[in-house]
Amino acid sequence: MKIMTVFGTRPEAIKMAPLVQALNKDPEIESVLCVTAQHRQMLDQVLDLFELTPDYDINIMKPNQTLSMITRSILEGLEPILQKEKPDMVLVHGDTSTTFVTALACFYQQIPVGHVEAGLRTYDKYSPFPEEMNRVLTGDIADLHFSPTQRNMDNLTREGIDPAKIVITGNTVTDALLTVAGKPYEFEDETLKSIDFEGKRVITVTCHRRENLGEFMANIFSALADIAREFDDVEIIYPVHMNPKVREEASQYLGGISNVHLIEPLTYQPFVNLMAKSFFILTDSGGMQEEAPTLGKPVLVVRRETERPEAIEAGTAKLAGVEKETIYAMAKQLLTDRSEYEKMAHAVNPYGDGHACERIVAALKEKLK
Ligand code: UD1
Ligand code: UDP
Repeated sequence: MKIMTVFGTRPEAIKMAPLVQALNKDPEIESVLCVTAQHRQMLDQVLDLFELTPDYDINIMKPNQTLSMITRSILEGLEPILQKEKPDMVLVHGDTSTTFVTALACFYQQIPVGHVEAGLRTYDKYSPFPEEMNRVLTGDIADLHFSPTQRNMDNLTREGIDPAKIVITGNTVTDALLTVAGKPYEFEDETLKSIDFEGKRVITVTCHRRENLGEFMANIFSALADIAREFDDVEIIYPVHMNPKVREEASQYLGGISNVHLIEPLTYQPFVNLMAKSFFILTDSGGMQEEAPTLGKPVLVVRRETERPEAIEAGTAKLAGVEKETIYAMAKQLLTDRSEYEKMAHAVNPYGDGHACERIVAALKEKLK
């Protein structure tokens, strides 16, 4: 059985790396890895950490790329590879443009698609943008759906997808997280080495969503700047995404504040260790909403909605929105109200037990035989 895995961005790589390792190990499977390199440096960081060497790399990233540029270059780049390899199934992950365009390229060659992290929904076409439509359209094309949770499966069955084609697996992010969390690790980054993690309260920040660029990011960063100026026992650490538009806004609003540290994207192991040492996390990332509950860290989600309500129901995440006053008030409450903080700071595991990849490999062998 030949299974080709295709991914291109940092979060897809983190969540697919343990699955590719599992596919590579299985004697019944011929595993082929193709990367689009929609992200270049941030993808390579993950490939290095998990010691993965792609069989194909279509290397599409351009500075400040548009959605049309990504779509065209992936479609054209994948066509000859799919024609040559003719895999029994192509696995894609989540909701990026790599995900959707790969599914489309497979559809054009009538190659079956397996969708990992299937069934997340906000039901708002433009938020997150373009991810909501990327995952809906991928779901329409996919032949097998690997859903992290029962809720994700229910979303798909409501859309008329045959339950026999859906497998609940947990999220592979927990598999990835557990391979690096808990291992002894010393920071190598100079800024992280200089932080007094015992004496200070660290807030780890990331922010990159396309729909937050502009006014909403200005609101989020202004709220953080106020928090940094008000609390001198707080250190804000923000490994800034490589998108030039994000970098510009981050340095405009957060540059030059002594207890705000704008640093380069971290590789996954130091980043997980940073989250584990943080007081709380403020982010618009999807993956970090899934990782923080396992680490027992409160998360303020700076978005208008989330397709990951499980973490909110479990109590570790709160939707803080994109307005300055609300974000400031919620961050301040976590810093000043011990009982509110304690209510959020507990480890729960709504997204899986670290065995999602095993379940996916077993399901592939059963369903494709
Ligand atoms: C992409 C995904 C988004 C995902 C996010 C994770 C789409 C449309 N968006 O958004 O779903 O949540 O990745 O981070 O699929 N860049 C670099 N080096 C890198 C990575 C990015 O220089 O390693 C810069 C480039 O200038 C690039 C820009 O960032 O053009 C934006 O990258 P892109 O993949 O288009 O969008 P993201 O915002 O990263
Ligand atoms: N991450 C990382 N280094 C960083 C910031 C984030 O390794 O400097 C990890 C994080 O733990 C999570 C993933 O990258 O697993 C999230 O990626 P991103 O925020 O780019 O995308 P999203 O989750 O929003 O799709």
